[in-house]
Amino acid sequence: MYRTHTCGELRAEHLHQTVCLSGWVQKIRRLGAMTFVDVRDRYGITQLVAGEGAPTEVKRLVDTLGREFVIQAKGTVVERANKNERMSTGDVEVALEEVRVLGASETPPFTIEEQTDGGDDIRMKYRYLDLRRPVVRRNLELRHGMARLVRNYLSDLGFIEVETPVLIKSTPEGARDFVVPSRMNQGQFYALPQSPQTFKQLLMVSGFDRYFQIVKCFRDEDLRADRQPEFTQIDCEMAFVEQEDVLEVFEGMIRHLFREVKGVEIDPLPRMTWTEAMSLYGCDKPDIRFDMKIIDLTTKAKGRGFAAFDEAAFVGAIRVPGCAGYTRKQLDELTEFVKRPQVGAKGLAYARRGDDGWKSSVDKFYPESDLVAWGEACGAATGDLLLLLAGDREKTLPRLSELRLEMGNRLGLRDKNVFKPLWVTDFPLLEWDEDSQRFYAMHHPFTSPKPADVDRMESDPGSVRANAYDLVINGVEIGGGSIRIHDSALQSRMFDCLGFTREEAEAQFGFLLGAFKFGAPPHGGIAFGFDRLVSLFAGLDSIRDVIAFPKNNSGRDVMIDSPSTVADTQLDELGILVRPNS
Ligand code: AMO
Repeated sequence: MYRTHTCGELRAEHLHQTVCLSGWVQKIRRLGAMTFVDVRDRYGITQLVAGEGAPTEVKRLVDTLGREFVIQAKGTVVERANKNERMSTGDVEVALEEVRVLGASETPPFTIEEQTDGGDDIRMKYRYLDLRRPVVRRNLELRHGMARLVRNYLSDLGFIEVETPVLIKSTPEGARDFVVPSRMNQGQFYALPQSPQTFKQLLMVSGFDRYFQIVKCFRDEDLRADRQPEFTQIDCEMAFVEQEDVLEVFEGMIRHLFREVKGVEIDPLPRMTWTEAMSLYGCDKPDIRFDMKIIDLTTKAKGRGFAAFDEAAFVGAIRVPGCAGYTRKQLDELTEFVKRPQVGAKGLAYARRGDDGWKSSVDKFYPESDLVAWGEACGAATGDLLLLLAGDREKTLPRLSELRLEMGNRLGLRDKNVFKPLWVTDFPLLEWDEDSQRFYAMHHPFTSPKPADVDRMESDPGSVRANAYDLVINGVEIGGGSIRIHDSALQSRMFDCLGFTREEAEAQFGFLLGAFKFGAPPHGGIAFGFDRLVSLFAGLDSIRDVIAFPKNNSGRDVMIDSPSTVADTQLDELGILVRPNS
């Protein structure tokens, strides 16, 4: 038997018992004739002691130990002279009677403690060591706990988990696919699923009216803190439902998770249409932990001879409470912030209401009466600062959104322990792409238009709203879904709007159109980004921290050194070897 107890288990009640522990050497301290060894496992740390009276063999072996050796230790639980209140096992220690080395260790490349001296790269290279750190371990434990809650919650509601294939078919919509060459069908490729979308719809046609799957998805996109090339969705679909039914079930699931994991009771989720979200917050995933909504000052700001505003189609402002005292340096910093290429504004104007009235960066053009009018429109009080951006409406709103989030950060209004989820609904069905001069599905091509808008699909496609919804929490898109088209004629019209020829639609999605001809029930669903949800619950900024073996920002796994080249023989077998001069 390797152990009688874990390293997190022993307490005063175990005094005088003979116990056996196994784990990793965390720390060794030698004090005169005494040697203290902290041994660690998943459950905690226990202090072992080899005192003067310890067997000679134990003393000899303890002298050979180093950090991260795996040992088995046998001894008697004794009371500690100096109790350690910060350790759950801190009242006791184990007086060593036998020690065995189960696995020696080289000196680890970084300290394996709550706070480590290891940088990101080295920790990723030795991720298996990083995973020994309690902080990282706790994230995976949280992830497991949440997956289990989701499985139980949905299973109790009659959902069944069905696995869908990982080697599927490449489609040009959405993000780029990862493709896999087929040896048996040379020159042809599978694609890894960006989501199980079409399969879950087929399952509805098959009559599995409540499906879910905690499933890996793959997207070859540029990576960010909240994006990985392979990530996990809680993917769900229901038949015989309307939007309200879907929102109700999954609002229940989200509130259940908050209750069970965080101990917080979340209010019923507010709803906001996409149009409202864009005009009030400048983005489709508003962080509603704080107010600072965007105010349209276009009519009040134009026509006074200030070219930057006069030439702009839109002038918008945010009111920052209590920041009228911002220094020149602080305002310059904000100007630099909005001019960064990621934000892209040309400049920033401000107006502030101090004790002695209004002052602005555009005083030359605007008399105080104008500034008073702006202030009234924004609800400004003495001490408030207005920040203004101008330009095309579509470009300026997102810039104001970035500025708003920056101010939220600066003012500490984005508390990680406060959770403000909401549903964003009524997304546009289609999105115009300037480069390719065509419409793309904003969500995906299977999303249904709002019945009231169907007639405009051909005449004014850009104005058609979709039965689509996102779950947004604290400014993060956590989930998205829609009610689907379940009628092959409407699906064909949708493909027409997207510029697919009948042949293309048939070649890409013929199986789905075919299935719809055999009795398709009305259906809809949603998928949640599970990594995002866990990292939000953990209070982390990057989803990498809740993934056991993540990729870095270049899409590499630096531990296994992947992607990598493969042997010519392998390529040859796959029929994709490009030989020079051949
Ligand atoms: P969508 O594309 O909106 O919808 O994806 C659903 C959710 O998955 C998460 N997500 C990601 N998480 C980490 N890394 C990524 N690269 C990444 N991409 C997306 C987001 C997102 O909200 N089939 C549809 C769902 C449906 O209609 O039912 C779909 O995949 O949190």
